[in-house]
Amino acid sequence: MGIVTEIESDWHAALAALAWQYDLGVLEVVQDTPLNRYALPDAAKPLPAAPQLAAVPPSRAVDHPSGFETGVDVVAEARKMAAQAGDLAALRDAIQRFDYCELKRGARNLVFSDGLPTAHVLVLGEAPGAEEDREGRPFVGRAGQLLDAMFAAIGLSRTATTPQEALYITNVLPWRPPGNRDPEPAEIDMMRPFVERHIALIDPKVIVVMGNTPLFTLTGERGILKARGNWSQAMGRPLLPMAHPAYLLRNPAAKREAWADLLALQAKVRG
Ligand code: URA
Repeated sequence: MGIVTEIESDWHAALAALAWQYDLGVLEVVQDTPLNRYALPDAAKPLPAAPQLAAVPPSRAVDHPSGFETGVDVVAEARKMAAQAGDLAALRDAIQRFDYCELKRGARNLVFSDGLPTAHVLVLGEAPGAEEDREGRPFVGRAGQLLDAMFAAIGLSRTATTPQEALYITNVLPWRPPGNRDPEPAEIDMMRPFVERHIALIDPKVIVVMGNTPLFTLTGERGILKARGNWSQAMGRPLLPMAHPAYLLRNPAAKREAWADLLALQAKVRG
């Protein structure tokens, strides 16, 4: 029995490690046909030509200028575009047209939001991962499944149709950072006006920030593990910092504190 449990736990640990690498974007090690990476190149075959960097049309750089290249104040530009967005569709369109964030180039999809726009609780995450990028919806990978289960435990869900029971979910960054790296401060700064406009349009009663990046974006503070569970204010409404579900997947012992935070949230929305 003891041996079986040990084997099972090894199996789960191995699966979790594999899933973690998959979430990080390590997708190419798993292929249908085996690849011998030690094989010597076939001497008879000519080497493939070097990539033609000069062949990239110069218009691409013009399509996606960075603020540094053009001298544009990209944060001011973001503020202007966000302020002009009168509803969610216009905001989505403005983000789609915003060409100064390099992440847009590598992403498959814009990940805007999910849930009920009239929800009382708005959940703000960090940025899409591989599965969110593929589907164009926030929090649909493993961390998202945990997030759904956590909120379901206090009667809240992104599929609910009443504002009291519903969630609205969005992220600080709408495009996936390559390899799920941390967002850079310049990326956060240029996308913050869109996040603030998004929150203003939803007008939630409570904001829940999942992890360091959204905590920093809305409060300027860092240190989610210290801040978690301590209510503060952002944009004139209560803000609850919580550990990110991806952190909880790696540190299951922290789920106990997350449960306490969820109960505090439940009391706040019911009260
Ligand atoms: N992590 C996030 O912060 N947001 C997502 O959408 C997915 C994973």
